[in-house]
Amino acid sequence: MPKVSERGTIMPASPIRRLGPLAVAAKARGTKVYHLNIGQPDLPTPQEGLDALKHIDRKVLEYSPSDGLLSLRQKLQQYYSTYNIDVDVDDIIVTTGGSEAVLFAFMACLDPGDEIIVPEPAYANYMAFAISAGAKIVTVPSSIEEGFALPPVEKFEELITPKTKGILICNPNNPTGYLYTMKEMLQIRDLVKKYDLFLFSDEVYREFCYTGAPYISAFHLPGIEDQVVLIDSVSKRYNECGIRIGALITKHPELKKNVMKFCQARLSPPLLGQIVAEASIDTTREYMLATYNEYVERRKFLIDQLNKIPGCYSPIPMGAFYTVVKLPVDDADKFCEWCLESFEYEGQTIFMAPASGFYTTTGMGKNEVRMAYVLNKEDLAKAMKVLAEALKAYPGRTL
Ligand SMILES: Cc1ncc(COP(=O)(O)O)c(C=O)c1O
Repeated sequence: MPKVSERGTIMPASPIRRLGPLAVAAKARGTKVYHLNIGQPDLPTPQEGLDALKHIDRKVLEYSPSDGLLSLRQKLQQYYSTYNIDVDVDDIIVTTGGSEAVLFAFMACLDPGDEIIVPEPAYANYMAFAISAGAKIVTVPSSIEEGFALPPVEKFEELITPKTKGILICNPNNPTGYLYTMKEMLQIRDLVKKYDLFLFSDEVYREFCYTGAPYISAFHLPGIEDQVVLIDSVSKRYNECGIRIGALITKHPELKKNVMKFCQARLSPPLLGQIVAEASIDTTREYMLATYNEYVERRKFLIDQLNKIPGCYSPIPMGAFYTVVKLPVDDADKFCEWCLESFEYEGQTIFMAPASGFYTTTGMGKNEVRMAYVLNKEDLAKAMKVLAEALKAYPGRTL
């Protein structure tokens, strides 16, 4: 048989989906599985988007322009202006989900061997996309004890080499729920400016900030406008993960040209998804508020429940809809597998994402999992009961 690529071999499997086959097998045995592993919200898509989809009246479902429909880019520009993100329509490139925006950002900015510095734990697909681009993610550890605050800026500076091309942040953060402060954002700005780096800023959860602290976009930071590469997506804010629409926003003229070549090579972002996304931008304040309020409640409920289980600890996430939880177990990878393979409580079990996959430093996150609070409160309550019972029964319990 021909040999497959080294790149594919070293590509990490998604920690969010890796245990998927075990969940399928558990369901086949008749076990109810609560999915805390994936950021796939159960809330409704805006009616405006669903209506637009229902009423598509076209004779041909053609390719759209490679940078997306102009009408969608115009709408996005207005949407960003409501967050004081001052960008031109020409700065916005529509992509096939935020995922493709990350991939194209890396492909267009980085050469093989180039490095980007990322605080860890980090959204695991950054590592996978960096490998796709032949680039290297260098991580600065943040810790659950410090609530996953930005590590001291000196820690970043220590890692800067001639190969360093950028810093990547996710704000509000997946997986930790951390929201960067103005002081932290200005520290990052100063570093990016001093070393002439790109600042990749993934802000797909901007709608979900819970503490009253302001959301600070990388585009709010004066003096680095041409260095910012913003990653966006409609997946989370409109509960539209399946339409695959995101955006890459940059004011860097050469970068725009580079990204466009990747966009042209893949011809077009999804036409139908763009139609739905465009209509969804018109959704009401009530819709956005209802979604927001639902997460506020779920977050409070989940964190309260978790911190009541002996040996569990979760900081209070400030944004997004995830939390990283410390569990009293020897190995969270094994525990997550065991829950799916060998455990059930009253016909139910839970699917969590082991946190080790969100770190690159070996050994970190060994007793942590990421949970997404994308289930309704009743299901979250049942899932927490299952977790408490699983921890009592697990042979590798440490407390
Ligand atoms: C931080 C972050 N960025 C980007 C994405 C990609 O989302 P999509 O490709 O659905 O837009 C996700 C999805 O979970 C995410 O959590």
